[in-house]
Amino acid sequence: MASPELAPEVTTFYTQVFDEGTRLTASADGRLELVRTQELLRRFLPGAPARVLDVGGGTGVHARWLVGDGYDVVLVDPVARHVEQARAVCAARLGDARRLDCDDASYDVVTLLGPLYHLPDRGERLQALREAVRVGRPGGLVAAAGINRYASLFEHTALAHLHTERLRTSVAGILDTATYDGRRGFTVSYFHRAEELAEELRAAGLRDVEVFGVEGPAWSQLKAVEQATGAPPPDALFESALTAARLAEPHPELLAAGSHLLAVGRVGG
Ligand SMILES: C[S@@+](CC[C@H](N)C(=O)[O-])C[C@H]1O[C@@H](n2cnc3c(N)ncnc32)[C@H](O)[C@@H]1O
Repeated sequence: MASPELAPEVTTFYTQVFDEGTRLTASADGRLELVRTQELLRRFLPGAPARVLDVGGGTGVHARWLVGDGYDVVLVDPVARHVEQARAVCAARLGDARRLDCDDASYDVVTLLGPLYHLPDRGERLQALREAVRVGRPGGLVAAAGINRYASLFEHTALAHLHTERLRTSVAGILDTATYDGRRGFTVSYFHRAEELAEELRAAGLRDVEVFGVEGPAWSQLKAVEQATGAPPPDALFESALTAARLAEPHPELLAAGSHLLAVGRVGG
């Protein structure tokens, strides 16, 4: 059966506009996302070696450290440019989260660190999560990331954009609708509230669901300093933002202040 269609704006964005390969290393908030995603996932991953399916794995930034930790990683992504780069890291092939070309119960871990960002339709997000449940083994781990509903408000404040009519309207639209149409800047996107992301994992059949803030409440300060100085923020500020993310974890109110959410759950059985 043919794969579901990817929105053309998503293909164009990742093929012609944006270099996903450097997103998590070229900026301080990207590095914060990488460090925190690693430390959160490592809390839940089974001991290596285990089979990991990295769905929407992009160019393999997470696959690289997972392979380094001893996991047997297979990456699927619908963007050919990403798959070509990821092949330098692990087994990688074209694929869509909504219809995975994988056997039932064939992976110990399934990660979706990106596909839900680009599926504005709840039915399609649930389809992607149910596919992760189908290919995960009983008791296996599914980890799914979402972009925070309020991230664009913090980002465009930090970047001093909100005085412009265009950005003010765009951010107001995201706050109102939780979606972005991908007309300019970013691509077609969906923005989650923490409880909504948890509910979607449960609706897909996952149990023991927990949601974490990835970057914590201070990530946009890193962006503001980087933009204002044209240089990476001082190490002490990066360390403070990282500490803030860790300190914020027991306080669910602060989930709304982050840039990304990471939800984990177990395949039933
Ligand atoms: C922001 S990137 C994240 C890449 C990587 N997982 C990471 O966390 O750095 C989002 C990724 O989701 C992929 N993606 C978009 N729609 C998808 C879909 N329907 N199924 C699977 N992957 C998808 C994109 O091609 C892109 O590689």
